[in-house]
Amino acid sequence: MKGVILAGGLGTRLYPLTKVTNKHLLPVYDRPMIYYPIQTLVEAGVDDVLLVTGGNKAGDFLQLLGNGKEHGLKRLSYTYQQGEGGIADALALAEDFADGGPIVVMLGDNVIEKSIAGPVARFREQGRGARILLKEVPDPQRFGVPTLKGSQVVRIDEKPAQPASPYAVTGIYMYDATVFDIIRTLTPSQRGELEITDVNNAYIARGELTWEVLDGWWTDAGTFESLHLASNLVAAMRLAAAPH
Ligand code: G1P
Repeated sequence: MKGVILAGGLGTRLYPLTKVTNKHLLPVYDRPMIYYPIQTLVEAGVDDVLLVTGGNKAGDFLQLLGNGKEHGLKRLSYTYQQGEGGIADALALAEDFADGGPIVVMLGDNVIEKSIAGPVARFREQGRGARILLKEVPDPQRFGVPTLKGSQVVRIDEKPAQPASPYAVTGIYMYDATVFDIIRTLTPSQRGELEITDVNNAYIARGELTWEVLDGWWTDAGTFESLHLASNLVAAMRLAAAPH
C-alpha cells in the first residue's frame, strides 16, 4: 500500500517558531518532526510515499529528505499545496499518486510510540472503505471526536465544545480510492478548510468506516504544549531503549 504524509499549513498555532520555517521541520527531541511519520510508515511496510507540503520553506524538505533512501523509503515523491485549503484539500493532490489503489494517510505532526503494521494489515483485509485509529485523550475537544453507538462510530465532530466520547480521531487514516470522489463533494467549513472529518463522515454515511484503538502513546505536535509533550515522550522512549 502507498502512503501519503500531509505536511503543509502555516503552523500558526506555533508562531513565531513557524515564522521562517515549516512546522514539520521543527525538532521533536532529537529529530525533525517529519522523520516520525516517515518512520511509522516505513515500519508498517509502506515505502512508497508522497509528501504534500506547502507554506514556508517547502524546498527544505528536499534538502532534508532527498530521495528518502536514507529513511528506508523505496520512493519519495513531493507535491505542493497552494494556499490554506485544509487537510482534505491537501489529500486531493494525491489522486494521481494513488492511481486507483488504497492509501495510508498520516498527518506530518502526529508522533506515535508503536507500530501501525497491524491496522494496515487489517485494512488490506477489509479491502474497501476507510479505517481510522482512535486514542483516548484528556482533551478531546482539541480534535475530531467520534460518537460511538455499540461498536459503531456513528458520527465525528470536529473540535466539539462538548465531546461525545473521550477519544480523539488520530491523524492516521486508511482510505480506498473513492476518497477522491468524496473530497470533490466537500464544501469549506467555518474555518474555510476542507475537513478530513467530513471525509470520514461521508464514509460513515455509506456504512464503510471501521475503527480501532491505536496501541501505545499518541500525540500531535501542532501547539506549544503538544510539541513539548511529543519531545518529552520521545526522550523517555529513547532513554528506556538505551543500554544501561
Ligand atoms: C486535525 C483533524 C482532527 C484530528 C487531528 C489529529 O486537526 O482536523 O480531526 O483529530 O488533526 O492530529 P488539526 O491539527 O488540523 O487541528
